[in-house]
This record gives sequence, structure tokens and C-alpha cells, in this order.
Amino acid sequence: MTRYTNIVILTGAGVSAESGLGTFRDKGGLWTKYDPYKLATPEAFSEDPERVHAFYNMRRASMTDAAPNAAHHSLAHWEAARRENGAGEFLLVTQNVDDLHERAGSRSLLHMHGELDKSRCSCCGDIQPCNGDLSTAMTCATCGKTGGLRPHVVWFGEMPFDMDRIADALDACDLFVAIGTSGTVYPAAGFVQRVAALGQAHTVEINLEPSEGHSSFAERTYGPASETVPRFVEDLRSSGV
Ligand code: OAD
Repeated sequence: MTRYTNIVILTGAGVSAESGLGTFRDKGGLWTKYDPYKLATPEAFSEDPERVHAFYNMRRASMTDAAPNAAHHSLAHWEAARRENGAGEFLLVTQNVDDLHERAGSRSLLHMHGELDKSRCSCCGDIQPCNGDLSTAMTCATCGKTGGLRPHVVWFGEMPFDMDRIADALDACDLFVAIGTSGTVYPAAGFVQRVAALGQAHTVEINLEPSEGHSSFAERTYGPASETVPRFVEDLRSSGV
């Protein structure tokens, strides 16, 4: 078994599905019930900020009630074991705005689509922890302006966070694993092609079913993440990876 020195994991909504948080595009998913253009764009927020706040307040409350599942825990244990052994780089990039990876113990983690448990002031850019509801009546503690606080998440038409760091990690990796993502939203959907084009990394898809981009992956495993991810991690760890 190859000893990987530079690992990048990409997760999507499927990794949190068994924790009770809805995915977006599966049957009953958030974007099958709600119109993303009315809830997840800067234009929607300008048009009706309270409607947008209500959507993210609901999701923040669900996140607080949810707990990490076996997939989150196995990724966190894998990262910790590699750190202990000095085994090389490990970066977990998540498209999820929930905090289940950090509550499971992941530390080398980037939230490319932002974080529900933070607010950002549209006026001054200040980012603060946010554990309750946001509303237009709230005032930014830093600049003192009222009505500008928004969830610290990426909306359609906005640039995801940390793209330079992610690009560097993708270009250096020798193992890339995508877990629980439909491969429909760019730039994340293009990560596997970027990695595959360089030809130096093994690529793995772990999902409930083949994603849009499944044919770009060298190895594919299908089933619920709470079962497939711990099995995959255990197989690699038992061979010293
Ligand atoms: P999607 O809802 O598009 O895809 C979720 C994927 O997870 C699907 O391919 C499912 O088959 C799979 N899945 C469902 N349950 C699973 C389980 N128990 N185990 C393993 N896989 C499972 O969610 P994302 O790909 O994360 O962005 O969506 C990407 C982005 O689109 C999100 O970050 C969000 C959304 O619009 C923004 O809001 C900016």
C-alpha cells in the first residue's frame, strides 16, 4: 500500500446527512424545497434580508441540535493519528457550513463555503461568533451600524474562501478523497479534474451513489458515509497510511 504524504479530503453535505442535516439535491433536499436564488444570493439578501436570515437561523438551530457521526469522527481520528506519527500533510476542505467536523475534532480544516456559527458585517467586514439568530435589528459591535450583519457563508455569485491555500494543497497532494458531494457546484466540483490532470495523486470518490464527476475518480466506493468512511480510513490506517 502506498504511504501517502500529502492528503486532501473534500467533504459535502452527504457527510452530515446521517447527522440529520439535509443535503441540497437529494430527494427532499433543501434546494428541492426552497429556491436558492431567493435565499442564497447577495441579491436575495438585499431584496428580503429577513427571509434570508430566517433560512439560515433555521439551519443554525438544526446544526446545534445535530451531532457528528462516525464519518466525521473517523476523519478526525485519522488526522490526529497522522499528526502524532508525523506522517505528512492532511487538509480537510469542506463545503459544509455546519461545525460537525470541528466538533468531531478535525483541526486542519477549511470551510470553503463559510460557517453558520459566524456572522459578518456587510459594512465593515468584521467576523464574530454567532450562536443564535441573526436579524436586521442587530447592530455590529465593531462599526456600530445596524442591519448589515449577515451569515458568514458563501452565496451563489460569491468567491469561496481560502482558494489559494486549497489550490496549493491540491497541486501538492498524492491522495485526494471526495466524500458526500454531488460534484455539481464549482469550483469544488473541478478539484478532481485539477488533481487528475497533474497525474501524481490517487483519487477516490466516497458517496451514496455515483456523482456527476464520478468517472474522473480512479477508485469509487458507494454507501452511507457513516459506514464507508470509517471502513476506508481503517483500511488505510491498518496499512500504516
Ligand atoms: P448535494 O446535496 O449537491 O450532494 C450531496 C451528495 O451526498 C449527493 O451526491 C448524495 O448522493 C450524497 N449523500 C447523501 N446522503 C449520503 C450519505 N449518507 N452518505 C454519503 N453520501 C451521501 O450537496 P453538496 O455536493 O455538498 O453551496 O453541495 C455543494 C454545494 O451546493 C453546497 O456547499 C451548497 C449547495 O448549494 C452553497 O450554498 C454555496
